[in-house]
Amino acid sequence: MKVLITGAAGFIGSHVARLFTNKYPEYQIVVLDALTYAGNLENLRDIADKSNFTFIKGDITDEKLIPEIFEKYAFDGVIHLAAESHVDRSISDPMAFIRTNVFGTCNLLNAAKNAWKGNFEGKRFYHISTDEVYVALEFDGRFFTENTRYAPHSPYSASKASSDHFVRAYHDTYALPVVISNCSNNYGAYHFPEKLIPLAINNIKHNKPIPVYGKGENVRDWLWVEDHARAIDCIFHSGKNGDTYNIGGNNEWKNIDLIRKLCEIMDSKLGRESGTSAKLITFVSDRAGHDLRYAIDSSKLQAELGWKPSLQFEEGLEKTVDWYLANRQWLDNVTSGAYQSYYEQQYLNS
Ligand code: NAD
Ligand code: TYD
Repeated sequence: MKVLITGAAGFIGSHVARLFTNKYPEYQIVVLDALTYAGNLENLRDIADKSNFTFIKGDITDEKLIPEIFEKYAFDGVIHLAAESHVDRSISDPMAFIRTNVFGTCNLLNAAKNAWKGNFEGKRFYHISTDEVYVALEFDGRFFTENTRYAPHSPYSASKASSDHFVRAYHDTYALPVVISNCSNNYGAYHFPEKLIPLAINNIKHNKPIPVYGKGENVRDWLWVEDHARAIDCIFHSGKNGDTYNIGGNNEWKNIDLIRKLCEIMDSKLGRESGTSAKLITFVSDRAGHDLRYAIDSSKLQAELGWKPSLQFEEGLEKTVDWYLANRQWLDNVTSGAYQSYYEQQYLNS
């Protein structure tokens, strides 16, 4: 099988590319990534030399390149993760989100449709989406199911919702064999330190304030990134055409409780007196349009495809902290910007 994975130099994509490259040596894995600020080839260092792995630097919005690579590699499957992914950036620069998440997704859909020419036997277009497309929950014990109404609030979630609609439209109109999954917040290794957990780890390490939006009352449902990658493997191979699957860890945490837990773990790992890191907690202005609560019902995926999360949150959080402390260089290269010259070092100078 020849599989195109987009956005694989990012956080989740790198875990998916690693899983597929190692688990399926008989597959040819082609990775396409524009290496925006969020793309980091160091995330793929351990698989870069594998014979079944190919990296292409390219933009999903490129109307010339995308059809060319479909022609060249004759992909059987696409796992589409490339996206602008940070809500705060979407508030300051919404157009970048529309370009990549909406137009870029449509460009890929169109290239797949044209390349596969109506012969969809053995083909699959898998679109990775988010739970943020659904109408935000209150503290009412309800969960997102696959039938929950779409009501995105941020430019990020609106652009992801729009891309989901286009993916379904290509299925309903052209019979393109698509599948979609909507996942909750991920955490783990290689997470860019603009997102809550790696940002807090980095700030605690450097004794810098930990910004908590509003009163820290907002709830997110956290899933260990490697469990997301396993779910993607499962859905890519066994999901039903045209279907949607919710993926989540059943792990709801108020932001402030999560940060307090992280502070405790960091104190213990850094040998600091208990309570030291919590002093860095700083309440700041709330995010505009900040959704109150996300919580996923993943029972369809569990019942139909047999997936379930492997890690409890406390255990996963501790593993994550251990990874960041053991990989200081990775974090330093990201925060200093050094990671952005890795492509030139690896690919252009060799
Ligand atoms: P990320 O920001 O870490 O990585 C995104 C990757 O896409 C980067 O490598 C970037 O260089 C690449 N990219 C961006 N624009 C591109 C373009 N125009 N062309 C080619 N490549 C481009 O994101 P992530 O957190 O790994 O998220 C991956 C996907 O999973 C996204 O579609 C996101 O919406 C979805 N998702 C993320 C989460 C989460 O908690 N992070 C949860 C659910 C769903
Ligand atoms: P984030 O990691 O940006 O993911 P998302 O917005 O996709 O859920 O944020 C997770 C939660 O943490 C969200 O409720 C916003 C909040 N948050 C803070 O309180 N402080 C921060 O510095 C950041 C980045 C997020």
